[in-house]
Amino acid sequence: MSSTAPDPRPDLDPTAVDRAPRETGADTAPAEGAAPLQRGVFVAFEGGDGAGKSTQVRLLADRLTDAGHAVLTTREPGGTPVGERLRDLVLEHGDAVVDARTEALIFAAARAAHVEQVIRPTLAAGRTVITDRFVDSSIAYQGAGRGLGTDDVAGINAWATGGLQPDVTVLLDVDPAAGRDRRAGRAPEDRMESEPDAFHTVIRQTFLHRAAADPDRYLVLDATAPVTAIAEHVADAVLRLVAGPLPVLPSADEGTVEVTVTGRDAELVDLPEPGDGLGDQPGTESGDAPAAGRDRESGPVAADR
Ligand code: TMP
Repeated sequence: MSSTAPDPRPDLDPTAVDRAPRETGADTAPAEGAAPLQRGVFVAFEGGDGAGKSTQVRLLADRLTDAGHAVLTTREPGGTPVGERLRDLVLEHGDAVVDARTEALIFAAARAAHVEQVIRPTLAAGRTVITDRFVDSSIAYQGAGRGLGTDDVAGINAWATGGLQPDVTVLLDVDPAAGRDRRAGRAPEDRMESEPDAFHTVIRQTFLHRAAADPDRYLVLDATAPVTAIAEHVADAVLRLVAGPLPVLPSADEGTVEVTVTGRDAELVDLPEPGDGLGDQPGTESGDAPAAGRDRESGPVAADR
């Protein structure tokens, strides 16, 4: 928000990539006497293993930097030195037993460091943050997949993050079998990927239920659609967000967000042409007033619906 904001220190970890705007090359610190910077937009990508998140993170970062925005791409677990060490600990197959509660706390610990050391300072400096996974992954994988309870895991993470939520979460929905096929030939499966399809089906349903419960904040896309079509829709939604005012971030000690998972199934966006209303959901009109023109004080707005 100001030139005294802590440096996001992108060099902390090779997976956190800080990009200056390509076209303007502008410094994100405001000039003396200039209006205070708007905070950056926080974008999360979620989805099952093999959904293609990392490709879409990269393509969105390219689009935003081309449009003159400063962007930091990062991932979870990870994004900080301690987070990367915790990542190895929790994802590698090894001799150490990692029971479900320990697993949930390791992911939450890595996230706490990520939020405190990287995400909050970067947003405060006016930069966009794009993260490959955030709290929803813990709610889906540990809360539902491991059976720890979605509300309990949401509560732990609300404390770990101080209630920070993405402005928009892009859910790349993929059938577990399709996700497995898409991963074939890549690195050996980690502890989570090697779980059976039934585990991944529960996770998929949980992501979809959460998206349906908060449709203003989620953009649900079919991960098997063409990469460029997905990228266009994501970019369209996020570019509208970066153009408008954003709600104030919760302070770091606001960790009591209540999360309720409903039983309503989310419906996939039927990938209309970009510009037709990116977050279009069945039963809503396309082409509503763009997010940039909406009052966001009442809550985050992901995209027109
Ligand atoms: P990925 O970086 O390839 O998405 O791998 C991260 C794995 O960790 C993936 O299988 C999902 C899992 N995971 C959780 O179980 N809980 C979490 O909170 C996060 C961030 C990831």
